[in-house]
Amino acid sequence: MCGIVGYWGPVGPKKVIIDGLRRLEYRGYDSTGVAIFNQKTLQVLRSPGKLAALEERLKGIEFSGPSGIGHTRWATHGVPNERNAHPHKVGPIAIVHNGIIENYAEIREMLIRRGDKINSDTDSELIAHLLNDELKSSKGLLEATVKLIPKLKGAYSILVINENEPDTLVAFKSGTPMVVGLGEKEVIIASDVQAIIEHTKRVIYLDDGEIVCTQKNSAKFYDIHGKPLDKKPVTLNWSTQMAEKQGFDHFMQKEIFEQPRALRQTLEPHVTLNPYSVNVKDLGLSESEIKDISRIQLIACGTSWHAALVSKYVFERLTKIPTDVDIASEFRYRDPILDKKTLVIAVSQSGETADTLAGLRLCKQQGLKTLAICNVPHSSIDRESHGHFYTQAGPEIGVASTKAFTAQILSLHLLALHFGRIRGSLNADQISSYTQDLIKVPSQVEVCLNHDKWFKEAAEDLAKYKGFLYLGRGICFPVALEGALKLKEITYLHAEGYPSGELKHGPIALVEPTMAIIAMCPQDDLYEKNVSNIEEVRARGGPIISIGTENDHTLEKLSLHFLSIPKAGWLTNPLLSAIPIQLLSYHLAVALGRDVDQPRNLAKSVTVE
Ligand code: M6R
Repeated sequence: MCGIVGYWGPVGPKKVIIDGLRRLEYRGYDSTGVAIFNQKTLQVLRSPGKLAALEERLKGIEFSGPSGIGHTRWATHGVPNERNAHPHKVGPIAIVHNGIIENYAEIREMLIRRGDKINSDTDSELIAHLLNDELKSSKGLLEATVKLIPKLKGAYSILVINENEPDTLVAFKSGTPMVVGLGEKEVIIASDVQAIIEHTKRVIYLDDGEIVCTQKNSAKFYDIHGKPLDKKPVTLNWSTQMAEKQGFDHFMQKEIFEQPRALRQTLEPHVTLNPYSVNVKDLGLSESEIKDISRIQLIACGTSWHAALVSKYVFERLTKIPTDVDIASEFRYRDPILDKKTLVIAVSQSGETADTLAGLRLCKQQGLKTLAICNVPHSSIDRESHGHFYTQAGPEIGVASTKAFTAQILSLHLLALHFGRIRGSLNADQISSYTQDLIKVPSQVEVCLNHDKWFKEAAEDLAKYKGFLYLGRGICFPVALEGALKLKEITYLHAEGYPSGELKHGPIALVEPTMAIIAMCPQDDLYEKNVSNIEEVRARGGPIISIGTENDHTLEKLSLHFLSIPKAGWLTNPLLSAIPIQLLSYHLAVALGRDVDQPRNLAKSVTVE
């Protein structure tokens, strides 16, 4: 969850590291720090708070060395203050770290017993002490790192630098991501390609248990025992421009408005127009493997879990395959019963979420076929899955996921149609009709976005409520969950998502004039039942903000605010309903003066359990 950058090269490490940390700040933003060569000394500067505070401290300081490392932190051990910020320097060693050292307590006790001075509350500093020990009896940083690794337990990555080896950077990955960018005359090591793409598109991803040692601009790779490895670079196709605000006030706002393009790009490679059909390319699953599936098991976290929940309705209706959806952190500890014909689908924007990755590995160990729905090609979940489907949303920087959510729903819809066609659970007319519905989605999303002005008006009116209940039924119920999550994440107001039919079983007790009810109520086969639930809330004085099909005057009359979406088919309603719920949260957060892109306590990519 922390961001890591290391650099060797001619541009000047201060600039590259600070630019890199700026691009990684979305991964964690409690505190920041750098260790950069100045003459022959490694100078460490750290600051609590966001990167801007560190930049202030660095003003006017020129560094004359070729290399350095930097870090932006999401606190695990120890509060976010300067003492706990990375890098940690012990002797000639400086270290930045991402992840958790599980045997932290026993290492700390051993160091204190032998009289070492521990300056922070972190597990990270302890690594620097151990590495410094190893360095004393080693030829250099690489050998010391190889000797260090067996002493650490946990899922973590480290990047280290030694005052006596200014041309060398060493990194190790075990669990959390690490990538090496190979420029012509420079090398960058980072926890995320976002910090690298401005310099080079040629990168090598470390796998778990791998070490990289760079000497000037050459990189050599080793296994955990120090045995050389042959690794090939891949070329990235993301640009830096894709990760900029491009005139929008916030990344979240830009990403909401990018959805028509993201959806078009996700859809187009997989649909045919004559006849209208879906044929998913390069999935990594043969037709006979698809015919053989007896059950689908989806695993995901947060917003990706909500997208997976939508797909349960879709897979079961269109493919007739029994489908289960689990929150990844629960799945891995509940001893799931999985037979060999279960297809496991891991859904993840980042492809790095620790719990989803662990769930995927558990299924692979049991010999199951796995498929990744990821937005980041070459990410850990993508690399470790048998099959792949890429959401083409482009880099998502805002901590609150938006365009990845709708792209995931669309991707899962496409998969369901693909499976339905191959397994014969859908006839040609059904496939044609559903495909035509999906083709219309990007332009229907554009229509929703054109209503932003009304969504903003409604949002500004919501600031007066003390709580929010999001309701939905069937395929739109997970959108209610997503609406509540979006609101909580960026406004810090309390919200809950419920199936409308569940209201009478408890939550209706909350209904009163200060509790806003946000009801998903498109004109689908559950419409009448939804309207009855809305009436029940109104009868108890609950203010209704409804999301419904255009020209639905009945619903409009029942609502304080009626947020309209275009008339659409069953598959499309969750995709269109997502737009008003995203914009409501966005505008309310702005009205309340919240930090929309970097809400408190959160990080974009959750790489620890
Ligand atoms: O990268 P992933 O899709 O695996 O991330 C899963 C969740 O951490 C993520 O969706 C999180 O809930 C977002 N902050 C939601 O906006």
